[in-house]
Amino acid sequence: MTKILQIDASARVTRSLSRGLTNAFYQNWSASRPNDIWIKRDVGLNPPSAISEEWIASAFTPLDKRTPEQVAILRESDELLEELEPADIIVIGTPMYNYGMPSSLKAWIDQVIRIGRTFSFDLARGEQPIEPILTDKILVILASCGEGGFGFGEANASQNHLDTAIITASKLMGVTEHYVIRVEYQEFGDARHQKSVEDAHGKIPKLVQQLIQKIGDQ
Ligand SMILES: Cc1cc2nc3c(=O)[nH]c(=O)nc-3n(C[C@H](O)[C@H](O)[C@H](O)COP(=O)(O)O)c2cc1C
Repeated sequence: MTKILQIDASARVTRSLSRGLTNAFYQNWSASRPNDIWIKRDVGLNPPSAISEEWIASAFTPLDKRTPEQVAILRESDELLEELEPADIIVIGTPMYNYGMPSSLKAWIDQVIRIGRTFSFDLARGEQPIEPILTDKILVILASCGEGGFGFGEANASQNHLDTAIITASKLMGVTEHYVIRVEYQEFGDARHQKSVEDAHGKIPKLVQQLIQKIGDQ
């Protein structure tokens, strides 16, 4: 049985294109594999807390030395990690806000990437002291943007700090393979946007089947 963690980050509910993509992914997957385990975490509607000085001090205090207050400060992070750690596939539906990710999604990332849980740090490793603890997770980013041309090698690629930032950070969540499907030109509402929506929704069933083939009988 495969475990899938779905994160939705749009502040919009009814008109959200990224939620439309995650929903299509879920529907396609469930039609083929109804018994897999899905966890849905809606950070757009319920943003995780921003981390604080106390949070950082708690995370860097060894488990057996934490005060009851420090244990309590990390409870939210623990709860989010209990969803992330067993996940084989992480599906993130996200808008582009101000050329990057929504603050709610960044807050989730800051809560789940944690020393001793998702990565280890050892200066004896030289210039690469950080190593992931988790491994073999697949990340699927289903994004929506108001403008366009954000793909690799395209005109506005250098302004895309959305999927690039998520992919970089995801290595510390144990992601070793990623896929991006993006809707563009939402703000223009023109033929480019229509085509982009159609293309994105056309890619989802193909990606679902590709991943199902890949995971086999898991
Ligand atoms: C606060 C805000 C900031 C945005 N910033 C950008 C941006 O920097 N670049 C862009 O291409 N689109 C931007 N957009 C447009 C959204 O990315 C677009 O509306 C997208 O479809 C939102 O995702 P959703 O449909 O899932 O809500 C912004 C929209 C909002 C509401």
